Amino acid sequence: MTNPASTPPTPPARPRSHFNNWISASGAVLVVGALFSFALLVWMDLTGSNQNPYLGIFTYLVAPGFMILGLAIALFGAWAQRRWAIKHAATMPDKWRLDFANPAQRRILILFGTGAVAFLLLSAFGSYQTYHYAESNQFCGQVCHTAMHPEFATYQRSAHARVDCVQCHVGSGASAFVKAKINGTHQLIAFTLDNYNRPIETPLKNIRPARETCEKCHWPEKYHGNIDLTYDHYLSDRKNTAVGVRMLLHVNAGRPGAAPAGIHWHVSPDSAVDYYATDADRQEIVWMRVTNLKDGTAKVFRTEEFKGEPPAGAIRRMDCMDCHNRPAHVFPTANDAVEKAMAGGRISTQLPNIKRVAVQAMLQKDIATATAAPGKIAEFLQAKYKDHADLPATIAAVQQVYAETIFPERKADWRVYPNNLGHKDWPGCFRCHGEQHKTASGQKPAASDCTSCHTIIAQGKTAELATIVAAGLEFKHPGGDYDEELSCADCHNGGIQGK
Ligand code: HEC
Ligand code: HEC
Ligand code: HEC
Ligand code: HEC
Ligand code: HEC
Ligand code: HEC
Repeated sequence: MTNPASTPPTPPARPRSHFNNWISASGAVLVVGALFSFALLVWMDLTGSNQNPYLGIFTYLVAPGFMILGLAIALFGAWAQRRWAIKHAATMPDKWRLDFANPAQRRILILFGTGAVAFLLLSAFGSYQTYHYAESNQFCGQVCHTAMHPEFATYQRSAHARVDCVQCHVGSGASAFVKAKINGTHQLIAFTLDNYNRPIETPLKNIRPARETCEKCHWPEKYHGNIDLTYDHYLSDRKNTAVGVRMLLHVNAGRPGAAPAGIHWHVSPDSAVDYYATDADRQEIVWMRVTNLKDGTAKVFRTEEFKGEPPAGAIRRMDCMDCHNRPAHVFPTANDAVEKAMAGGRISTQLPNIKRVAVQAMLQKDIATATAAPGKIAEFLQAKYKDHADLPATIAAVQQVYAETIFPERKADWRVYPNNLGHKDWPGCFRCHGEQHKTASGQKPAASDCTSCHTIIAQGKTAELATIVAAGLEFKHPGGDYDEELSCADCHNGGIQGK
């Protein structure tokens, strides 16, 4: 018997890997770079103080995208190499083969290595920049979503102009951290795709519930007491008669410490309001239920027309955003925007009928783009006021008001984005407090009269507004007598009244 160990068979020349080629090497560098970026981004994401799921798009989509691209290049290199080898096996050396024995190739390799290191450094720098950029509101509002210009413009004038978009739109997740990031990415894609609707449809289906967004900064039990607000208006008459309303809004009725009452009662910890709306905009509310969370008793109110039960899954529990649905993007009505500019002195009240004319100028049917608007507005006002001394300043002011109010390209303005906070130009509170709902025993919901939500303490023309009546006044409609059966929004539509 021979000893097999003494004469080891010469190993067959190992076939050279098809991946041993320049193309695959470049692919590999890309993969390493992407992996490197990915790791860095994940690390920054996990340790960053500002949890920003927008970063998820880069971390979990772009970086892996490059990784896949790199892999594809590497595979392509191997495939090309193999084809070449099959075709030219005997005659020629491998075309892209890496051969360290060859001094020319060694020099190229050094260059290649330097390039690769530079690439890795750049990708680290790039990731870092990306991280900061993804966090910025500029990214959300302008670059990523040019279609969101109207939201960005309105946001910049809101109480939340210093709150990042992501704090309301993505929120911070309670679920496992990475899962939340990936969720955020999903949400973001859905949200971005929403852009293709003009106008973007609301209510947003994918916005987080208020307790994960608003309630990170605000808390429902906070005692606000009465809030004193003055609404400036002008009649559409020749003199642009100023009429105003000053009222105390009973955000929290009663004294601090007493049982929750007043407007913020809806979000108090003791009770919950659920409702069912038949339309996607949540404007037609036909059913609602009040649950006393302490003893579990419930009361159901419904409109006379609605007989059945609401479909399960279509019932929504009221939160902050059912009233404050425009916390960052108020699209004021043309009427309100003009009145605000008049009250602020930007539009001169010396021009006869300017209230009506300015609103008409803004609502011209043939304004199709934001760029066309200034010209059309100037023409319209010039035709009415010829060479009135206040005209040039007024034209500029109305053009400015238009730019802040109406976004024709996106078809975004108050006509498609109702504000649910009041009840004058949209149904708002009257969706539920408008006398249509009753319990089975015929009981109407609380707060069904003009004094339960607010107390008017002064109203009328400028001089009358100076007298405060603490006991409250009965509302005197500036537009004269009207049928009390009608709701304010039946006539008021934010444009020209009565039309
Ligand atoms: C204070 C919270 C908050 C902030 C900050 C915020 N949003 Fe919103 N946003 C909302 C709410 C609430 C809605 C409306 C939800 C609804 O009606 O369903 C909304 C709606 C939108 C819509 C849908 C269209 C519309 O007008 O209803 C877009 C687009 C949007 N926001 C983009 C942004 C961008 C971009 C930023 C940052 C520049 C931003 N938001 C900042 C709360 C916020
Ligand atoms: C990151 C913190 C933060 C988040 C999230 C946030 N807010 Fe605010 N909010 C503020 C601050 C700060 C102010 C006060 C701004 C001021 O007075 O200038 C404010 C003001 C307000 C006001 C008073 C508005 C006004 O016009 O004076 C309302 C109403 C409000 N927030 C509702 C909401 C709602 C609804 C949400 C959720 C969609 C929300 N906030 C989310 C920080 C936040
Ligand atoms: C989705 C329906 C709904 C909407 C929208 C709504 N409410 Fe209510 N509200 C209710 C229900 C239901 C009650 C409890 C009625 C009852 O128990 O008799 C209530 C009660 C109230 C109360 C009495 C609270 C107390 O002290 O007991 C006030 C005040 C009030 N709402 C104000 C408002 C204001 C202001 C708005 C608009 C900004 C508004 N509501 C929007 C459903 C709604
Ligand atoms: C039933 C409707 C309704 C609900 C629900 C509601 N609010 Fe309000 N809230 C109002 C009204 C009305 C005002 C008065 C301000 C106004 O009319 O502009 C107000 C005022 C405020 C203010 C401003 C206080 C100030 O000093 O200016 C804040 C902040 C606020 N709400 C936060 C919240 C938060 C947070 C939630 C959810 C936990 C919430 N609101 C739920 C109707 C509501
Ligand atoms: C369910 C609560 C509620 C009831 C009932 C209610 N209001 Fe109001 N009203 C509000 C809220 C909230 C606002 C503030 C909206 C805002 O902040 O923009 C408001 C605003 C107003 C304003 C000022 C609007 C403006 O833009 O000038 C007038 C005037 C008014 N209400 C009159 C009435 C009259 C008249 C009635 C009775 C027919 C009535 N309200 C019933 C909640 C209510
Ligand atoms: C029958 C239709 C009708 C109803 C209902 C109605 N209004 Fe008016 N309102 C008018 C007209 C018309 C004017 C005069 C408009 C003008 O001169 O520009 C007016 C003027 C006003 C003004 C001052 C001017 C302005 O443009 O804001 C206020 C404030 C007002 N109404 C509030 C209300 C409130 C609040 C309600 C519900 C309680 C209501 N109105 C219900 C038709 C109506």
